[in-house]
Amino acid sequence: MPDRYLAHRSRQERVAAAECVVRDAGIVPIDHRAFADAIQMVVEGRASELARDRNAICYRVNLARGDGSSGPAIVKVPRMGEQRTNPETTFAQEAEILALLPAAGIPGAPTLLGRVASGDRHFLFLNEMPGTHPDPRTNPLDGRQLRTLLDHLHVMDMRGLMHYDLKLANILTQGAEVNFVDFEFARFRSHRNAYAPETAAFCADFNVSINAFFPARSNVANFEFRALHHYLDHSLDHGGGGPSQAEHLLFDWLHCKSGYHQKMAAFLADLRETSIADIAVTSGIPIARAHGLLGAAAEQEALLASMFAQPDATVARVERLLMAYRCAVFDRHTTDVEQLRRTLRELIRSHSKWTETRFHAYGQAVARVLELVTCSVASPARSRLPASPGRAHGDRVAGGSAGSAPI
Ligand SMILES: Nc1ncnc2c1ncn2[C@@H]1O[C@H](COP(=O)(O)OP(=O)(O)OP(=O)(O)O)[C@@H](O)[C@H]1O
Ligand SMILES: [Mg+2]
Repeated sequence: MPDRYLAHRSRQERVAAAECVVRDAGIVPIDHRAFADAIQMVVEGRASELARDRNAICYRVNLARGDGSSGPAIVKVPRMGEQRTNPETTFAQEAEILALLPAAGIPGAPTLLGRVASGDRHFLFLNEMPGTHPDPRTNPLDGRQLRTLLDHLHVMDMRGLMHYDLKLANILTQGAEVNFVDFEFARFRSHRNAYAPETAAFCADFNVSINAFFPARSNVANFEFRALHHYLDHSLDHGGGGPSQAEHLLFDWLHCKSGYHQKMAAFLADLRETSIADIAVTSGIPIARAHGLLGAAAEQEALLASMFAQPDATVARVERLLMAYRCAVFDRHTTDVEQLRRTLRELIRSHSKWTETRFHAYGQAVARVLELVTCSVASPARSRLPASPGRAHGDRVAGGSAGSAPI
C-alpha cells in the first residue's frame, strides 16, 4: 500500500520525465526517464515495499541503467508524520555523504544511484545491500561478523566518519558480511583538529571514544549503545541458555575489540609519522606537544588491545555497564544513569587489580567517559536522533506484509 503521503497523487497522473530533476547523479549513468518510471511505480503503489522506519519508506524497483541493462534498486521516500526524527526530507545530506564514501574507502555502504526531485518531493535511489538485521533469536551475530563489523567501524573511525545511528535496523548481515544503511545522520570530521579547543566540546557526547590522548567520537561506542546493548538484553530475554549466550557474545566482542585497538594503535603511530605538522597547525598546538600526545594515544590503544585480548571479568562487566550507561543517558533514564554511574565508580574504586598500571589507566579512561557522556544531554545533536529502538519502528516487510520488527 502506498503511504498516505503519496496517495494524494492520483493513479492516473503520470510522472513526466521532464518533471523529474536529477539533483545528484551517482557514478552509474542513469537516464532521468528511468528515474521517472521508477517514481511512477512508487506513487501508483505498484512498487513493493521493502521496509520502513521513522523517516523513510524503502521500495524495491527495477531500474534501467544507461548501458541498456536493468537491475533492482531501492527507492527511499520520506515518511511524513509525527514519528519523524529528522526534519530534512530532501535526502540532500544523505546523498552528499553517500557520494563521498567510495573515495573514503568506507566498506559495506550502499552506492548512490541518484537523488531525484519530482514536484516538491525527493526520492533517493540506492543499490540494495544484502543481508538481514541481526536478531538474537532469528539472525544471531557470530564471531566472524563481530570481527568484520569492527573492521568496518575501524575504517570509519580512521576516516573521521561518524554514522551516528548504528542501531540494528540500520545493519544487515549475511555470512561474514556486514553492511550498513541509512546515512542520513552521518557526518565527516577531520582528525586534523584533534587537539583544538572545540574538540573538547565535540567529545562531550554519548559517542566519545575511550582514548583521552586522541579526543574523538567513535562508531564503536555508537554501535555499543545503539545496538549491542539492546541485542545483549534481548539475548537474555529469549531464555534457553540466554545468560551464557549473552556472556559469550560479550567476551567475543571484547576479544574482537582487542584487534580494533591494535589497529588504532598502528593508525595513530602512523598519523604521528605522516601528519604531525598538519595536526599541530590545525589544532593550534606546538609540534612537540602533538608528538607527545599522539605517542601517548598510540600507547593507550596498545594497552586497551592487551586488556581486551583476554578480558578480566571485571573489565567485561565495566564495558557492559558502560554501554548501558551511554544508552541510559541517551534515553534520559535519569534514575538508571545515577545507579549505573555509582556502580561503575564503585567497580573502578574497588577492583583489586586497579593498582596495576594498565588497569589504573583503564579506570581513569572509564571515569573520563562517564563525565563526558553525561555532558552530552545538552548537545544539539541529541534532538536529531531517534530514541532507542522500539518495536514500532524499523519494520521490514517479510513475504509481502509488514514483518516482525527487527528491534
Ligand atoms: N540500501 C538498502 N539496502 C537494503 N535495505 C535497505 C536499504 N536502505 C534501507 N533499507 C531498509 O529499509 C529500512 C528503512 O530505511 P532507512 O533506515 O534508510 O530509513 P529511515 O526511516 O531513514 O530510518 P531511521 O528511522 O533509522 O532514520 C532499513 O531499516 C532497511 O531495512
Ligand atoms: Mg534507519
